[in-house]
Amino acid sequence: MPVTTVVGTQWGDEGKAKVIDLLSASQDFVVRYQGGHNAGHTVVVGSERYALQLIPSGVLYGTVTPVIGNGVVVDLPTLFKEIDSLESRDVSCARLKVSSQAHLIFPWHQAIDAAMESGRGDGKIGTTLKGIGPAYADKVRRVGIRAGAVLDPQSFEKSVRERAIAAQKEIAMLGGEAIDIDEVVTQFVALGSRLVPYIADTVNVLHDAKDAKKRILLEGAQATFLDIDHGTYPFVTSSNPTSGGAAAGTGLGPRDMTRIVGIAKAYTTRVGSGPFPSELTDELGDKLVDIGREFGTVTGRRRRTGWLDTVMLKHAVRVNSLTDIALTKLDVLDTFDEVKVCIGYKLNGVILTGYPDRSELLDDIEPMYESLSGWKTSLSGVSRFEDLPESARALVRIVERETGIPVSMIGTGPERDAVIVRDDVKVPA
Ligand code: GDP
Ligand code: IMO
Ligand code: MG
Repeated sequence: MPVTTVVGTQWGDEGKAKVIDLLSASQDFVVRYQGGHNAGHTVVVGSERYALQLIPSGVLYGTVTPVIGNGVVVDLPTLFKEIDSLESRDVSCARLKVSSQAHLIFPWHQAIDAAMESGRGDGKIGTTLKGIGPAYADKVRRVGIRAGAVLDPQSFEKSVRERAIAAQKEIAMLGGEAIDIDEVVTQFVALGSRLVPYIADTVNVLHDAKDAKKRILLEGAQATFLDIDHGTYPFVTSSNPTSGGAAAGTGLGPRDMTRIVGIAKAYTTRVGSGPFPSELTDELGDKLVDIGREFGTVTGRRRRTGWLDTVMLKHAVRVNSLTDIALTKLDVLDTFDEVKVCIGYKLNGVILTGYPDRSELLDDIEPMYESLSGWKTSLSGVSRFEDLPESARALVRIVERETGIPVSMIGTGPERDAVIVRDDVKVPA
C-alpha cells in the first residue's frame, strides 16, 4: 500500500508542512522520521496558524495517527508544551505514538550545542541551539538514552543522573554553562512518567499498518542540503533528511516508498551560515524576505534569500529518488519585474555537469541564469495550471525540464486551499 515521503529539496522551510497537511486528508499515519524541535512546520487553516516543531503535521486531522519515529531526537519539554498547546485548541494528540527507539534530548545537549557554537567564533554553523547535534552525537557514540527507557522509571532515573554527571564534565571542558544535575533529574523523572502512555513499538506498528493497507506519509524535517551526508557540510544538521533517512528513521524499507515528493520554494532561502550560490544580497533579496515573510519559525532569524536553483533540485532528485515536485510560494514572485532561475554552475569558467561533491567549491561558483519577465499579477485564487500567467507556467516548465520530473502541486498562498493540484500530470498513488 502507498507510502508517501515528503522531503525538502533546498535548505529547509520550503513549505513542507502545508503540503503534508494537504496530503494528510487521505492518510492514516503521518510519521516524523528525523530531526527534532529544530524544525518549524507551519500550517494555516482559515484564521488559525499552527507552528509545529515535533508533532507530525498530519495531527490536525482527527483520522490521522501521528507518529514520532525512531530516527527523531525528542525534547520532552517541547513535546508536552506542543501537546498542551494543540489540545487547548481542540486538536487531540491522544493517538500520538512515540518510538521507544527514538533518542531523548536533555538540557546538557543544549548547553553543549551553545558552548560549541560560541567556541566556533566566525565559523559558527548558526544552529538552532536546540541540542540536536549533541543528541545525535550521543546516539552515534552509543551513550544516548532512548524514549523506551522511561518504561523502567528507576533505571531511567539512574541513567539520567549518570549521563548528567558525565555531560557536566564535557560542558566544563568546553567552557559552557553548568547544569543543575538534581533539578534536571527531578524534571526528567516527571516528564518520563508523562511519556509512558505514548511509547510504542512504532516499527512494527507501521509494518502492521502497511499490511492492513493503511496509508502512511513520512514527514521530512530540514532538507536535502542540510543533510549530514549530502548537505553543505559542516553547515548542515546532524541527521539524514533525505529519503534514505526516512527508511532508517521509521524502519520501513526503501522499497515500501511508492511516492517521494520533493518540496521546493519558487526561490531559495537559508537560515544560518554556509554557501549559497544564487543568494541575493541586494534589495531584491530584501523584497523576497518582506513578501515571503522569511523569518525563522523556530528562532525568528531573518532568512537569507536568493533565486531558485535547479542545479540543487536536480541533485535532490538524484539523492532522494524524487517522483514529483511541489513548487511552493510562487505567489511571492507576483510583483517582480524579472524572475531568474539558476540552471547551471560555472567554476573557473567551466560549466559543471553535476552538483559539486565538495561544498567549499560552492563559494566560487558562478551561477548561470535563465531570465523570465515577471507576470505582475496576483496568483491568489488561481486553482488550475492552465489559468496561471504564461511566464509563471514557463517557470514551472523550466523546473520540469531541468529536473526531469513533474511539478504536481503549486503553492499560491499560505492558506490550506491556496494550491494548484495538477490533474494533467501523472504521479504515483
Ligand atoms: P516547512 O519548514 O518546510 O514546513 O516550512 P515553514 O512552515 O517553516 O515555512 C513556510 C512558510 O511559508 C510558512 O509560513 C507557510 O505558511 C508559508 N507558505 C507555505 N506555502 C506557501 C505558498 O504557497 N505561498 C505563500 N505565500 N506562503 C506559503
Ligand atoms: P524545517 O524542518 C531551516 C539549520 C539551522 C542551521 C543548521 C544546523 O523547518 O525546514 P541544527 O540546530 O539542526 O543543528 O542547525 O540547520 N536548520 C534549519 N533551517 N529549516 C529547518 O527546519 C532547520 N532545522 C535546522 O539554521 O543552519
Ligand atoms: Mg520550517
